[in-house]
Amino acid sequence: MGELIVMNHPLIQHKLTILRKKETGSKDFREIVREMSALMGYEVTRDLETEEVEIETPLTKTVGKKISGKKVAVVPILRAGLGMVDGVLSVVPGARIGHIGMFRDPDTLNPVTYYCKLPKDISERTIILLDPMLATGGSLVAAIDELKKLGAKDIRSLNILAAPEGIEVVQKSHPDVDIYVGSVDDYLDEHGYIIPGLGDAGDRLFGTK
Ligand code: URA
Repeated sequence: MGELIVMNHPLIQHKLTILRKKETGSKDFREIVREMSALMGYEVTRDLETEEVEIETPLTKTVGKKISGKKVAVVPILRAGLGMVDGVLSVVPGARIGHIGMFRDPDTLNPVTYYCKLPKDISERTIILLDPMLATGGSLVAAIDELKKLGAKDIRSLNILAAPEGIEVVQKSHPDVDIYVGSVDDYLDEHGYIIPGLGDAGDRLFGTK
């Protein structure tokens, strides 16, 4: 079973409370999503491999560490995942960026990929998949399906909020994917909103409501 990591850091929790407030406007919402994503990006990269390298300081030779092993790709799920990209890149500036877009087929209700552009060497990278809201889990499962079809092997999901129902769906379909979240909320309502949640993350990020 994939691990569920709830990031209880006080800064993450403090910022999350501001995001939840209905009076937080788009400018602040965007800024705080960016800040939270940087803090969460720090946690999601905690186990990246390092190797020792010999270096010279202005005073002497010494041994330092550098990131080794797999390189990172950041993949936002369009549209709301875009709000998390800059924050994660602020801690992993060398990461490549892929994009994946899904919509729900109105007849079958199945998620359909309408856009997918990834770095060529995706199978050799650690992928940080970004979506602020893990709600039903449908689009996240479909995005992971698509990434795996294209060769991805090491995927971790980074979400600001998650519903228990969505976590279960993702863990059942993709037990190899670890899920990093700021909070596991109470439940999904009949419209697919996370309760208590923060509303529609895309609309709040981009001011489209
Ligand atoms: N997507 C959102 O933006 N908000 C929710 O509560 C659920 C899905």
